[in-house]
Amino acid sequence: MDIQHSLAQPPVVILREDYRPPAWLVPETRLVFDLDAHATRVHAILSVTRNGDHGEPLRLDGAGQTPLSVTVDGIAIDDWRLEGEQLVIPLSGGQHRVETEVEIAPDRNTQLMGLYASGGNLCTQCEAEGFRRITYFPDRPDVLSRYAVRMTADKARYPVLLANGDPIATGDLDGGRHWAEWNDPFPKPSYLFALVAGDLAVNRGTFTTRSGREVALGIWVRAADLAKTDHALHALKLSMAWDERVYGREYDLDVFNIVAVDDFNFGAMENKGLNIFNSRYILADADTATDHDYDGIAAVVAHEYFHNWSGNRITCRDWFQLSLKEGFTVYRDQGFSADQGSAAVKRIEDVRSLRAAQFPEDAGPLSHPVRPDAYQEISNFYTATIYNKGAELIRMMATILGPAAFRAATDLYFDRFDGTAATCEDFVACMEEASGADLSQFRLWYGQAGTPRVSASIDHVAGGGRATLRLAQRVPPTPGQPTKRPMVLPLKVRLFGAETATPLTDERLILLSDADETLVFEGVTERPVLSINRGFSAPVIVESDRSAADLAFLSAHDDDPFARYEAMQQLMLDTLVAGAIEGRADHDAVIAAVAHTLDDPDLDAAFVAEAVLLPSDAFVGDQLALVDPDAIFRAREALRRDIGVQLQDRWRLAYDRAPAVPYVYSPTEKGKRRLRNVALGYLAATDAADVAALAFEQFRAADNMTDRQAALTTLVNGDAEERQAALDLFYARYADNALVLDKWFQTQALATRDDTAAVVTRLAAHADFSLANPNRARSLIGAFGVNQRAFHQADGAGYRFLADQLIALDQLNPQTAAKLLPPLGRWRRFDQGRAALMRAELERIVATPGLSRDLFEQASKSLE
Ligand code: PHE
Ligand code: ZN
Repeated sequence: MDIQHSLAQPPVVILREDYRPPAWLVPETRLVFDLDAHATRVHAILSVTRNGDHGEPLRLDGAGQTPLSVTVDGIAIDDWRLEGEQLVIPLSGGQHRVETEVEIAPDRNTQLMGLYASGGNLCTQCEAEGFRRITYFPDRPDVLSRYAVRMTADKARYPVLLANGDPIATGDLDGGRHWAEWNDPFPKPSYLFALVAGDLAVNRGTFTTRSGREVALGIWVRAADLAKTDHALHALKLSMAWDERVYGREYDLDVFNIVAVDDFNFGAMENKGLNIFNSRYILADADTATDHDYDGIAAVVAHEYFHNWSGNRITCRDWFQLSLKEGFTVYRDQGFSADQGSAAVKRIEDVRSLRAAQFPEDAGPLSHPVRPDAYQEISNFYTATIYNKGAELIRMMATILGPAAFRAATDLYFDRFDGTAATCEDFVACMEEASGADLSQFRLWYGQAGTPRVSASIDHVAGGGRATLRLAQRVPPTPGQPTKRPMVLPLKVRLFGAETATPLTDERLILLSDADETLVFEGVTERPVLSINRGFSAPVIVESDRSAADLAFLSAHDDDPFARYEAMQQLMLDTLVAGAIEGRADHDAVIAAVAHTLDDPDLDAAFVAEAVLLPSDAFVGDQLALVDPDAIFRAREALRRDIGVQLQDRWRLAYDRAPAVPYVYSPTEKGKRRLRNVALGYLAATDAADVAALAFEQFRAADNMTDRQAALTTLVNGDAEERQAALDLFYARYADNALVLDKWFQTQALATRDDTAAVVTRLAAHADFSLANPNRARSLIGAFGVNQRAFHQADGAGYRFLADQLIALDQLNPQTAAKLLPPLGRWRRFDQGRAALMRAELERIVATPGLSRDLFEQASKSLE
């Protein structure tokens, strides 16, 4: 189908197979910034060398600026030309010094790419293609250069001047200005460039590396936030020690700085020696941050720090290889977080977010392989597939190799590719070389999109000693990939005896590699119950014919905590699917299993809290041929109420057994709070008369945001009279704290109420709502988009609202707009009425004059 588009230029598709090495290299780069919010001058001095024997001119990428001057070897030239936004400079020799000068306006940069203003400070964001908005440069990750940076700026407004690498010198100038110079000794691609100029306070620390290098650490924030930086600083030190211990990776510069800014398109950025963070992943204290926020901060601090090796020392050859750094680094940060608390709970959380974000992506119109073959706008490929499925690929290789060989393989990779721009293939080849494993078929995971489905069934003849496990796999078609080949699926399997409730076998790692396979287990003397994909060893969907009784059995007796959780989830899912389809379901098995889990004295609170939570509306929808949001909601509410009512005594007990104590962020206390708040949620489902008062009292008395927000959520989902009072108190208390106000918007956008679409539309006109701040935009629009029932209100009000907002946001910040589009693209999953309404909004977006390439790509692909 040909889509009518409204772009100034037809979309250009970039293909992986078109990769060519750069025609010119840039071993040295000197940048001189005359910083000013309205007009910043950038003077770039590039030493360029011809790469190979060719007659190509030098091509420098630019975006939004024009050259004020171009010189070659010190002489102004005028035979340069612009091709599109590329500056093309003919050069005759093998080596030249090329200088350009441009002027840019940080305070008009609403895209938050390149050099921009945030909260009165200046900062940069260059990944993936933001550097070209600062100066002319071969803005591609395989051109590595050594950078020297000089900044001059008004000293009163911008007392702090930071850039990558090490500080060299500073000085004062006339007119209240000052300067600073920084050098980064490590060659890096332009996307890792960063500078910050601002009025910032610092929380300093030190870390001594295992070879004795003392590193000066600094977390830079506005002065008022300084007290909220200890957790991030602590997490940074833990990360540095962890990477030495677990991967043998040591930090390599004398300073490591982190700057927090309020306006940021993503979570954070791993610029060499100068990470720039969305403030939501730095700032925390008990009063303003939840346990979940604390976890997120530690994970993102670790993630960006780990990029120093997996991303910076070894970068990506081209953006198709993005998962080389992102998948591996997510895997590394998951391992770090697992080591800080309960590894089982961390695995459950990671799988839950994989299923919430990546599985639907892989089942929809934006599905793409972990190593894509084509893109229009690279910003659209910072996806759950590249990040989270990418991490699962690394995890599977680690499982196949085993810990020792995996570590040998990562050592080999870091050693061999240090200082280079590498490919996913390079990584896999190291995995093979260090272990002797043959990963030829495994490589399909990088090229084939879609979530594999595995069907599993087990046969056993009563009285016999042999069990037969039949496995079959199917990889569904995805856009551009109608047929698939079987992949290698590492499945951890164990059999349990239905009568004795003991293991009948050891855990076995099965590498399913054919379309169908049959496996035989001997010595199986009683009816076996199948525990499969233990630890979620493969990112697949398992379809098995296990009965409710067998799932309940596993939820009580499996020795793998993830498998226990999974059995409970499957039992709940089966029940909810039946409820959604038939309008009613038998809840007894779920209620008994939840009771059993609550009663088990050997389980820790954090695990119990995860295990007894119902799957989300959206995940239930993913199991159905067509999503019926109202039927799913009714089924889920009915089950929630039944669990609440029938186990009310246990919920009261669980609630009281974890009394509020002064806030400490630790795995144990976090787990207790979590279980207590899950209990509150189930109590609220009972409609017991005192629950609103209980929630309001918790809201009022809490000394921490975890308990306060949980109570607020409970109240906001209901309609007790305390509801509005809590919202108003929360607003008044945090009116000047942007990160907490985001929670105020988000809680209302996620509310499970009939009026949520109307409330959200009203909130978009609230004085504190702004599309210019990505966190705020996401807190309302992004949260609403994942509220399945509210967003899919049958009259299409939710769709219209989202499209209106995205069209407006696209004018300011295309990247953030495009990120929020996917809920509209799920139209194939809904009834004809909803699908038509969703398509109409997508068509309206695509036909909007002046649309960005970002939003165009997402919306047009969603229509196909
Ligand atoms: N590379 C960053 C990370 O993984 C993400 C990012 C991408 C940030 C693009 C900004 C822009 O953490
Ligand atoms: Zn990353």
